[in-house]
Amino acid sequence: MRRAAHQVLDDPKVFDDPLALRVLGVENVSTPQPEAKWLEETPLSRVLRASLAARSRYAEDELHTAVKRGIRQYVVLGAGLDTFAYRNPYPEDVLHVFEVDHPATQTWKRTRLEEAGIPIPQTLTFTPVDFETQTLEDGLRRAGFDTSRGAFFSWLGVTMYLTSSAVATTLQFVASIPVGSTIVFDYMISPALLNPAQRQVLDSLAHRVALAGEPFQTFFNPTSLKTSLRAMGFGQIEDLEPEAMNARYFRGRKDQLRVGSLAHVVNARV
Ligand SMILES: C[S@@+](CC[C@H](N)C(=O)[O-])C[C@H]1O[C@@H](n2cnc3c(N)ncnc32)[C@H](O)[C@@H]1O
Repeated sequence: MRRAAHQVLDDPKVFDDPLALRVLGVENVSTPQPEAKWLEETPLSRVLRASLAARSRYAEDELHTAVKRGIRQYVVLGAGLDTFAYRNPYPEDVLHVFEVDHPATQTWKRTRLEEAGIPIPQTLTFTPVDFETQTLEDGLRRAGFDTSRGAFFSWLGVTMYLTSSAVATTLQFVASIPVGSTIVFDYMISPALLNPAQRQVLDSLAHRVALAGEPFQTFFNPTSLKTSLRAMGFGQIEDLEPEAMNARYFRGRKDQLRVGSLAHVVNARV
């Protein structure tokens, strides 16, 4: 919904997603509808949609770079309503996409796609995996993923909803596949590192997601996370702070759109 709102409300767009409205079952929204909850314009909703747009843009920018380097497999972890697979510009021999998600979410998404009339391309394999009770490795092997070749992974808006052991198991699997494999993921900063104003925003967000039945479970200290990633076998690690995302994607905007300060995006390469 936030990515769809970005298509309607923000100009210029940081992330162009022509299917974001369709997958929601909404089309032809040419003028803002103030009564629609997903189009609300509050300070928090602006920050959240900027953050979602920017992290998706960054992941896809990095994916295209990885394809140029010869990567031929893209794994969208915790895909939700991500639409890359349905607008994948590459042919099958260039990029195959694996959408990994909780089985319940994936079933729901497939219904949404059918209702929206969005065809499933041959370049996509659905891969149901519950990160808490199954391993990514087993799920991907069953789906025909080739662990002897490199891959690019995105994992957006997911680590905070998992236990730290499920996050570690998944990262360890990515670190175990061939050199050049890359993961882009975001994480929430440990509450102890936040100032009182940030803490207030976090508490309100945490309350909201807990009410929805998916509480935040895992936070990271950026320095310790880097150390853990290095120990797992990642050789190149970039931790992008909000200022870096703002400098990269929001510089010079008249509307002051900016990402929030509670999360970082990591780009880690084996
Ligand atoms: C906030 S959504 C993010 C979706 C998408 N990556 C995006 O950026 O829009 C969180 C996603 O994590 C997935 N997820 C949460 N817990 C999971 C679990 N235990 N196993 C697999 N996926 C899980 C949900 O199904 C959902 O697709």
